[in-house]
Order: sequence, then C-alpha cells, then structure tokens
Amino acid sequence: MNNIILTGDRPTGNLHLGHYVGSLKTRIELQNKNDYDEYYIMIADTQALTDNANNVDKVKNNIIQVAIDYISAGIDPNKVTIFIQSQVPELFEITAYFMNLVSVSRLQRNPTIKDEIKQRGFEKSLPIGFLNYPVSQAADILAFNANIVPVGEDQMPVIEVTKEIAHSFNNTYGQVFREVKGLLPENKICARLPGLDGKLKMSKSAGNAIYLCDDEKTVKEKIMSAYTDPNHIKVADPGQIEGNIVFAYLDAFCKDEHFEKYLPEYKNLDELKAHYKRGGLGDVKVKLFLNNIINELLTPIRAKRKELEENVDKVYDILFEGGKKARASAQKMLKKIKEAMGLDYEKLKNKKN
Ligand code: TRP
Repeated sequence: MNNIILTGDRPTGNLHLGHYVGSLKTRIELQNKNDYDEYYIMIADTQALTDNANNVDKVKNNIIQVAIDYISAGIDPNKVTIFIQSQVPELFEITAYFMNLVSVSRLQRNPTIKDEIKQRGFEKSLPIGFLNYPVSQAADILAFNANIVPVGEDQMPVIEVTKEIAHSFNNTYGQVFREVKGLLPENKICARLPGLDGKLKMSKSAGNAIYLCDDEKTVKEKIMSAYTDPNHIKVADPGQIEGNIVFAYLDAFCKDEHFEKYLPEYKNLDELKAHYKRGGLGDVKVKLFLNNIINELLTPIRAKRKELEENVDKVYDILFEGGKKARASAQKMLKKIKEAMGLDYEKLKNKKN
C-alpha cells in the first residue's frame, strides 16, 4: 500500500504545546516509522488569509516561524517535504473544480466551520474564502493523493468535507480518489489540550498557551500560574484532579521515567494523583515537577531553533525546494483530475472523424 501523508498548519503564530501533542508529535512518530512513500507538510498561507485578509504581514512573517518550529521539534526535511501552500497554484485550480461539488449550506452546517464563524464574528458578513476553506483543504489533501492526514480533533469535521468531495468527484467523473483517513493522537487529552486558564483549549487567540519557543523563565511563570483546583487552598486539603490543568498536562506529557528522575518518592502518575486527592500534596510541588518535564522536552527544541534562526536563508531554501517538489506532484494529479472530467482539450486536436 503506498501511503501518502499530508498535513498542515496556518501560519498565524508560533506553534504551542497543544499543536505539539495534538499533531506534531504524531507527525514525528509517523516520520520515524518510515511506513510511507511520500510525506508532505504544508504551511497554509492562503488558508490563513481567509480570516487575515488585512494582515498579510502576520501571515508572511509566521511562515518561517512555523517552519523553524517544525524542524526544531524533529521534522526532518530530508524525509518530509515542507512547502508553502501558495507556491503550488495547482491547488487553487483543483479547488475551483471541487467548489461545484459542495453546497453552501453543507459548509455552513459543519460544526468546526460554524464555531469558527462565531469566534471570528463572521455571522453578519462571511467572506466567501473563509466558508470555502474546507473545499480548498480538500484540494490540499487530494492533490497529493494523500490517504493519511494527521490532525487535531477540531479538524476532523473538516476532513469529512474532503471525504465527501472525494466521493462526489468519483461518482460524478469516475474513480480518481481513494479513501482519506484523519489520524488523531491515541491519548484523548492530547487531541484537545486545555489552555493554562482551564477554560478553553490551548490557543494563541485565547492567550493561554505555552509556545515551543518560550524560554525557560517564561515556561516556569506560565506553569506556576496554571489553573488547578480553586478549593485546594492548604497543602493538607484534598484536591481535585478533574479540570485541574496541571494534572491534564501531566496526563499528556508525563512518563514513568520522569518520576525516577524528578520525583522519586512516587512511582507513577496514579500514585501522585492519589496523594493529591487524599490531601497533603501542594500545587507548587506538582507544578515544579511538570515544569521539569516540559523543560526536558523544550530544551533540545530551543537549541535547534537557535541554530536555525542563525541560518534563516537555509530554511527558506528548504521551503522553496519543497514547493517545487510538491508542485510537480500536484501537477500530475491535476492532469488526472482534468482527464477524468474530460477537460483534456489537447485530445480534441487531430481527432479524425
Ligand atoms: N486547517 C488546518 C489548520 O487550521 C491547516 C490545513 C490546511 C491543513 N490544509 C490542510 C491540515 C490539509 C491538514 C490537511 O490547522
């Protein structure tokens, strides 16, 4: 089976721990399993513009930031083709054909799109481009004949649109596309990591995120201010695990080895939780433990980032080379798409009657 993996992010800010456990970690594991023929990661600048039309500079400047985040976190550009969406114009031609296969109301009913329209205050005046982004995303995926798409939980309904378009295309014009599978992380908390405030999922817009590029001091400050159990006032008080962000992060990031290294009086997370629930375990101790774990993860990422930041041109070269490679693949698929649709006008020439 030739597996083709494709995924991407909008370049609207640096990547944070929610991105890391929600998708980036799975991507790195997939990369290292080597069970694929082609692997693409797209920096979706055109998609980012669908709700940032007046903010081109933000999108433009974050392309390199996201690329540096990928590579410093462990994505290997020798194995994975990293590219900028707008450098593959074939995607937008494919989008145009796909737009005829989906209705406006279908997109408006999509739960992710519905939420995002609300969040952005687009109810009164909805940009066509924004409503259309799932269609364009279907083109991103199907232009590479990708069958595996590692994403966070909120993207699953968007992947449904891709599946519907692929089916509709196959039914209308003949079989071109295969089944696409969205891939979520196995650990549930990782699919939707909560923010430091305990209210929403971790996101740039909610201002409740720890970024991969945050320095040690910033990470510590953020962790020390994370929401825990508001009724756990004295160390002796019994504490609640549910809704406690520090424990949510431990569920996402902590392994048994971490106890041996940083908190040897406990064997594992279950023991730590039991003590917290019983009372007698203070928040500060748990937070410092989490801080050690997060810093262990981020220290090598920071070092790699520093190296790349001193060599930004090299990173741009990686992206531009990736763009050429991605474009060649998308051109092949576009040809197949047009042939299936009967848009191969060259064939009309020299046709003997
Ligand atoms: N919508 C994705 C996000 O907001 C980004 C994206 C664009 C993407 N094209 C894609 C993800 C194709 C997976 C596949 O994060």
